[in-house]
Amino acid sequence: MDIISDTDQMQQRALAEKRAGRSIAFVPTMGFLHDGHLSLLQEGRRRGDLLVLSIFVNPAQFGPQEDLSSYPRDMERDLAIARQAGVDLVWTPTPEAVYPPGYATWVDVEGLTDTLCGASRPGHFRGVTTVVCKLFNVVQADVALFGQKDFQQLAVIRRMTIDLNLPVEIVGLPIVREADGLAMSSRNVYLSAAQRQQALVLSQALAVAQLMVQNGVTSAEEILTTLRRLIKAKPEARIDYLQICHQQTLQDQVAIDTDSVLLMAVFVGKTRLIDNGFLL
Ligand code: PAF
Repeated sequence: MDIISDTDQMQQRALAEKRAGRSIAFVPTMGFLHDGHLSLLQEGRRRGDLLVLSIFVNPAQFGPQEDLSSYPRDMERDLAIARQAGVDLVWTPTPEAVYPPGYATWVDVEGLTDTLCGASRPGHFRGVTTVVCKLFNVVQADVALFGQKDFQQLAVIRRMTIDLNLPVEIVGLPIVREADGLAMSSRNVYLSAAQRQQALVLSQALAVAQLMVQNGVTSAEEILTTLRRLIKAKPEARIDYLQICHQQTLQDQVAIDTDSVLLMAVFVGKTRLIDNGFLL
């Protein structure tokens, strides 16, 4: 497995691979890999001749009050996981290489980024789309793999890829959960044992919503009212947003249909967790 930190070297290598007729599958990450990332790497291994993983904690997608400096990092462990997953090349750029002095170009997807995480974290998606666009350009990816846990991120990246005619196939893969239902996230390490228990309320809320729909409830408000009560019963949980939206437009829905997705962001203590799932 090759490890490259230099951007030009990464791009030259990618161009050489393409000239040699090899396809490139790409998994962009911020590191601190878990089984969710592993599922992306395994699928990437199947889809590309060369499997590239990037590890870059992107400062541009963190707000001033967010956890950039404390974001969990463990490069040695990540590299061991990457090696085991059959990654060919790990790219670990520095913030100075991605955003050198004088950097002035940003990618902004309008509309889809106004709601949900976009409303709670102003500027977050501008940082995500900018870095993902740059990563795609350097890595020359044919296919890029993302987790559906970041449901809005996936929708925004799909939109950007279409709008900017980027020649990359975007693949979204299902949420990977712990045995007790908690969606895997690098941020789960922030949770104390007691908070970890209360964090289960997110996957429980999803299960309750799905059951209500199975039992014939079609009113989004009725479901949301029940879920709000459930989540508020947990002393350390604070709802950031709880919405039932159309899976493509991300607009709120009044009645449940096959496009309905429940989207949640809940603080448990100081840790902001997200989860989602289809209702039908
Ligand atoms: O989902 C993530 O880990 C990040 O948002 C991404 C896509 C790697 C961009 O920094």
